[in-house]
Amino acid sequence: MSQQSLSVKRDGFTSSFGVLAATLGSAVGLGNIWKFPYMTGANGGAGFLLVYLLATLLIGLPVMIAEITLGRQAKANPITTLQRLAPRGQPWWLIGAFGMLAAFLIMSFYSEVVAWVFAYILKAIDGSILSSDPQVTGAAFGALISDPRQSLLWQWGVLIFIGGILLCGVSKGIEAVTKKLMPLLFLLLLMLCAVSLSLEKASEGLAFLFQPDFSKITGSVVLMAMGLAFFKLSIGMGTMMTYGSYFRDDQNIPATTVRVMAADLFVSMLAGIAIFPAVFTFGFEPAAGPSLVFITIPAVFAQIPMGHLLMVVFFVLAAVAATGAMLSLLEVPVAIIHERFGLSRKKATLISLLILALMGSTCALTNSTLADFKLFGMTMFDLFDYLSSNIILPAGGIFVALFVGWVWGFDKLKLALSNHGALANDRLVRVLFFLLRYVSPLLILLVMLKGLGLF
Ligand code: PHE
Repeated sequence: MSQQSLSVKRDGFTSSFGVLAATLGSAVGLGNIWKFPYMTGANGGAGFLLVYLLATLLIGLPVMIAEITLGRQAKANPITTLQRLAPRGQPWWLIGAFGMLAAFLIMSFYSEVVAWVFAYILKAIDGSILSSDPQVTGAAFGALISDPRQSLLWQWGVLIFIGGILLCGVSKGIEAVTKKLMPLLFLLLLMLCAVSLSLEKASEGLAFLFQPDFSKITGSVVLMAMGLAFFKLSIGMGTMMTYGSYFRDDQNIPATTVRVMAADLFVSMLAGIAIFPAVFTFGFEPAAGPSLVFITIPAVFAQIPMGHLLMVVFFVLAAVAATGAMLSLLEVPVAIIHERFGLSRKKATLISLLILALMGSTCALTNSTLADFKLFGMTMFDLFDYLSSNIILPAGGIFVALFVGWVWGFDKLKLALSNHGALANDRLVRVLFFLLRYVSPLLILLVMLKGLGLF
């Protein structure tokens, strides 16, 4: 590998705010605006939310801190990171390899949802989706996703767009883009919440979101809530390890991680508050699945002054949020291919995009040409989603926790998390270490076994 490619890469994120924005940019995405609301709706509301919160705190947070720390320590892609930090000959690098597989699986369906968002920007502009009639908004969405040509073209357009940003590099590409538009997204979501809360059946929507009904919580619901926690925080598959490798040495990792987690939860809550009052007021079905957001959000906008303009802004911002997340997903294979095979970032990006265009097409065509093509009873879109969130990411989480808890060890973790003694966080590190060594791996394993019906 040339010296130059190394120094370009090690450039990393340049400012403390940039680190925060990029990491938040990875966490916040369609997971908040699309996946969180529809999964909460489909799994009974508040009970699901509660389990999701617990999984985020007890499992997500420690694993995320562990991943970022490992990445910063080794300053390399996930495969090399684990090779450098593990004792010789032990195959911990497989975490990175499976992470790359998960990245491709996730990007395959994620890029299609991003494609819907991009297409919706145009539809928002021409006003064709602005209606509070579920028939109208539902039909508009159905027409889009069942058209194979449109689905493919939009998806490939998205891939080219994301690839273009990534080619600009880490600080000028990822950092610059994510830093600018995140605050705007918060603002617009807050506005939407205000409108939604003034709707007639707002209280029903809020009750659904915040009053748990424990009878709905089954083993598979718990597994899905945990899978969502992994997906939301971009952990268990190398993204946070890769971003960790761009972290500055003086960055306070636990503090940054807690901020990212809190902000991410906040965005999801806002999305929930914006959506469920509208669902109940206009008579949409909370369990509608992946289409939920695309049919309810336009209905909320149809109710407000300047709704037309604001809807355009909303989908632009959703596209921005999705872009930050996509960038962080694509960065995993790009970093691995670039560093492991000594190819330029440009070539690594192109190769990744080609693989993705092929794999992603199966998801783009899932509502049209390939609607009947199923494995294990699922379309490729659902299968890739299920496999990554409910199996590969949690399994990755188990191994990251085991690695830090049993192989890397307390002393190294403490040295790294205290920035070599500069931060006084001994207690925190002890708690984290305990969670990583015992609690997270066992808990994840139990949830997986129960959720998959294995015990
Ligand atoms: N966290 C992102 C979201 O919620 C998705 C993502 C998953 C990004 C895994 C990177 C890695 O949209």
